[in-house]
Amino acid sequence: MKIPTVTLNSGHEMPVVGYGTYPLQGRPATEAILAAIASGYRLLDTAASYGNEDAVGAAVRESGLDRADLFITTKLRGADQGRGSTRAALEASLERLGLDHVDLYLIHWPLPAVGRYVDSYAEMAELHREGLIRSLGVSNFLPEHIDAVVAATGIVPAVDQLQVSPSHARAELVGAVQGKGTVVQAWSPLERNTGVLEDPGIVAVADRLGVTPAQVVLRWLLQRQVTVVPHSSNPSRQRANADLFGFELSAADLAVVDSVAQVPVKQDPATWEEF
Ligand SMILES: NC(=O)c1ccc[n+]([C@@H]2O[C@H](COP(=O)([O-])OP(=O)(O)OC[C@H]3O[C@@H](n4cnc5c(N)ncnc54)[C@H](OP(=O)(O)O)[C@@H]3O)[C@@H](O)[C@H]2O)c1
Repeated sequence: MKIPTVTLNSGHEMPVVGYGTYPLQGRPATEAILAAIASGYRLLDTAASYGNEDAVGAAVRESGLDRADLFITTKLRGADQGRGSTRAALEASLERLGLDHVDLYLIHWPLPAVGRYVDSYAEMAELHREGLIRSLGVSNFLPEHIDAVVAATGIVPAVDQLQVSPSHARAELVGAVQGKGTVVQAWSPLERNTGVLEDPGIVAVADRLGVTPAQVVLRWLLQRQVTVVPHSSNPSRQRANADLFGFELSAADLAVVDSVAQVPVKQDPATWEEF
């Protein structure tokens, strides 16, 4: 299965479907990632705070693939934001991954009350120039946070990884971020299977098209130009979650998913703190 790519504003290609590695750790993580790679995933999404960068690195080595054929994302945790500590955090992540560069480095949360995300991004710009990061990105950034890092560095983030899913469609936020030339990547696109996959409208679309409700949700995101990093520890669900290119949702199908009741996100980037 070949997963298409999107060209980022950095000029690099990024698969539109990636494999989310949270919350796996240790050998089970490596095994699940190897299964995902065997299914065709080439983007692996990890973070310093997930405690599994070592397991991701093991899977990269055991996959036998060329480094250039994989797209590795990791994230700067809140505790490491700031001048000097950002460089040290990336170097520690690279050490755990066993890599000499990452394809995408994200600031995990803006933590506006801490006030260090602009300094962190400026240091990431230096690391980018040195070749340790291929593309600069952010996560959970609202438009004003993006504006602040662009004002400081002149570099528009290539990616903003945001919580986007049928109950949290966040159309205005997604549109504003995309309007800056930043690719939106949805985290928890399946809402951690907490109910949206049983939505009767989504189930009916899935049944008619002969696909799964998860495939309908992921395809709905892709058709909004939102890339996705679903997680599954199960090889057959991993395969299905990446098998999104043999069918298309009609305008009426898209409207069914658009009509899911909206719920505000619990982790509001303006106030959410995690370190
Ligand atoms: N930037 C951030 O702040 C942030 C925050 C959270 C997550 N993330 C990233 O986003 C990735 C994905 O988000 P997530 O893991 O929170 O949630 P998710 O991908 O929406 O859901 C994962 C859950 O859904 C189940 N599932 C997967 N495919 C399914 C299918 N086809 N049918 C039914 N159930 C299915 C999985 O169970 P099984 O394993 O049993 O299949 C797992 O429990 C994470 O792994 C992480 O890399 C980023």
